[in-house]
Amino acid sequence: MIDVQTKLVGLLGFPLGHSLSPVMHNEAFRRLGLNFHYLPIQVSEAHLKTVVAGLACMNFAGYNVTIPHKIRIMGLLDAIDDQAEAIGAVNTVVIREGRATGYNTDGAGYVRALETEGGIVVEGRKFFVLGCGGAARAIAMTLAFKGAREICLCNRTLAKAHDLAAEIDTRVRSCCRVAPMESAAMTAAVARSEVLINTTSIGMHPHEDRLPIEAGMLHRGLIVSDIVYNPSKTRLLAEAEAAGCTIVPGLGMLVHQGVEGFRLWTGLDPPVAAMFAAARERLGSF
Ligand code: ATR
Repeated sequence: MIDVQTKLVGLLGFPLGHSLSPVMHNEAFRRLGLNFHYLPIQVSEAHLKTVVAGLACMNFAGYNVTIPHKIRIMGLLDAIDDQAEAIGAVNTVVIREGRATGYNTDGAGYVRALETEGGIVVEGRKFFVLGCGGAARAIAMTLAFKGAREICLCNRTLAKAHDLAAEIDTRVRSCCRVAPMESAAMTAAVARSEVLINTTSIGMHPHEDRLPIEAGMLHRGLIVSDIVYNPSKTRLLAEAEAAGCTIVPGLGMLVHQGVEGFRLWTGLDPPVAAMFAAARERLGSF
């Protein structure tokens, strides 16, 4: 029941297509008996400033931010958390007494999924990251913060890999390398890595047959994770499983970034399994 006491949470983006966040959070609120409700809020870039100012004056506990507002919103908030500042993007905003603070839970969500489903800790490990867009920035910065020994960045546009590597090395710790796509350096870096992460959209529905790297490069014992969650098992993950790798599907990152947001808004630990189940069911209906 939505009433005058209800705390609202929303998702700001444009255009808003299918999203798993409303069902995932509303199920968690329901299970914990919290008078909260999550709703999608489609906002164009032209109206973002007005909406952000308005939400801070209303009964909103906060909101998520998605494409295309994750960077621009940073200039509209009252404060930015240090990690979100380093990542250069905000995906979660908390409103307290009319003040809006920006966080980034994408990297933390990814690491939590990797730890729980891949069964490893980040500290001291060697990572290979395919792609250097917004998701890769959040993930690679967080891996560096968490003590990764080496992060090899590989991107179609090589300059972006160099820029991100330099930024992580200066802001966090010197731990990055760069490998051009389809190079001998790339093959060597994958062979040396313990965890391979696909952050590109290659393999996403409706192009399920595509692979971001050659299957022959996957070696037994490698942990392979894909941030693509539709399909739930991408071709990369299927090939990796066949090659004897441990796989970490993309839904975990999506759910765990939400788990971190839920904690920030409510101060409570959400029922993670129920959030996974709600997200899986919704995904099945797309
Ligand atoms: P996101 O926020 O999801 O990370 P993004 O910022 O648009 O999205 O980044 C997409 C990443 O996937 C980029 O690294 C992009 O490579 P470029 O920097 O060269 O554009 C990569 N990517 C997307 N489609 C690709 C393709 N067909 N082949 C290789 N890389 C691709």
